[in-house]
Amino acid sequence: MKRRTGDNGVSSQPKEMPSTVECYDAWSSTYDSDGNILQLLDNDAFEEIAQPLLNLNQNKLCCELGCGTGRNTIKVLSSEWLVIAVDVSTSMMAKAQQRVKQLDKTRASSISWIIHDLNGNDELFINESSVDAIISTLVIEHIASLDQFFQTIFRILKKTDDSWVFITAMHPNMYRAGSQAGFVDATTNQKLCGVSFDHSIQDIVQAAAKVNLTTAKYLEKGVNSEEHANQLGSRAKKWVGTNIHASFLFKLRMN
Ligand SMILES: C[S@@+](CC[C@H](N)C(=O)[O-])C[C@H]1O[C@@H](n2cnc3c(N)ncnc32)[C@H](O)[C@@H]1O
Repeated sequence: MKRRTGDNGVSSQPKEMPSTVECYDAWSSTYDSDGNILQLLDNDAFEEIAQPLLNLNQNKLCCELGCGTGRNTIKVLSSEWLVIAVDVSTSMMAKAQQRVKQLDKTRASSISWIIHDLNGNDELFINESSVDAIISTLVIEHIASLDQFFQTIFRILKKTDDSWVFITAMHPNMYRAGSQAGFVDATTNQKLCGVSFDHSIQDIVQAAAKVNLTTAKYLEKGVNSEEHANQLGSRAKKWVGTNIHASFLFKLRMN
């Protein structure tokens, strides 16, 4: 697993590399509107894997690790689940809070918020075996230790047959082609990136397996054709023929 920080070659190198928090604090104002094609593929994966599971139940508790601006948070709340939303960036979370406020009062009050660094030494302040499901979309590239991440997931997840974990990731194909999560800061025209880690698909599956999470579904999504690229937006063109998004559904092995 390799670590990469900072600028990705869009323009000249910034003098100082931002931390992941600084990057997302700065990105928060444009995160929802800058034509990120991964979010579109992520929406499809969520619809295919997570939404049918959410539809099976109501009033269950989902923890979202790395809620960002609440893109998926509101889908979980709107499915009549309760949510604990966790993120390290107060600015990203503030956007999520604005988004949630637009839901009806009951849904908007069915959430609690925790600012927490999943790479830090402090334990996430959520009780053991207390949540029915966990989602974490497009966050894992920022996770330094997959073992620590999955130990947290295992600790807070209820140990039942019905419990599930939905994780999505920028596919390693993208990272290896030089991409990582980041945005072009309009004021400096520099690409700002936080700290990313090159976790392979196998690394993720193996780290999950160490805490008894088995892969119930695995999906890869890419830009299938020029026509598909046109639908996704201009940033998709360079990825025609490449899988750029991966999603995992994990379930607990109960025996
Ligand atoms: C690419 S965004 C994804 C946001 C949202 N899940 C989505 O799919 O739109 C990554 C999010 O992970 C958060 N994040 C990154 N590193 C983190 C860490 N160490 N602990 C908690 N959150 C982190 C960032 O602040 C950001 O909101």
